[in-house]
Amino acid sequence: MTNNFTLIDLPTIIDQRGNLTYVQKSELIPFSISRVYYLHGVPKNGERGGHAHRELEQVIVAASGCFSVRLYDGYNWTSVKLHSPSEGLLLRNLVWRELSDFSSNSVCLVMASKSYDESDYIRCISEFEGLVRLNDKV
Ligand code: TYD
Repeated sequence: MTNNFTLIDLPTIIDQRGNLTYVQKSELIPFSISRVYYLHGVPKNGERGGHAHRELEQVIVAASGCFSVRLYDGYNWTSVKLHSPSEGLLLRNLVWRELSDFSSNSVCLVMASKSYDESDYIRCISEFEGLVRLNDKV
């Protein structure tokens, strides 16, 4: 799980009037943002994700509230709690993700490298594991 995900301290301008965080392509975020979407109104015990992407890369931010992200690289699972609008979770391609434990009124903001494309999704975990092993052989 070393290269598949990174927690990033997003640049934040601290101001008595309120803080300002920005996200742009940089050494930390290696792609231009093509799409932004956000999850909101997720019910208590709600779960999102449950898939990986073939190519897509994303940065996930808890814009409000907090939630947990379980990550799986095909070999090991790990879990990250996102709770700060100034922290971003960079997910490279081929990472299985499951989001849960959403606090009330939480907002999960996602910045993505490409437009929505269902064919980029891997929604079957055994297919995902097979693809990871195939890639590791090459
Ligand atoms: P999905 O990515 O499966 O949601 P999550 O991973 O957050 O649980 O998407 C749910 C539905 O929304 C699915 O029918 C595809 C659609 N969708 C779009 O139309 N555009 C988008 O940018 C995204 C992310 C999803």
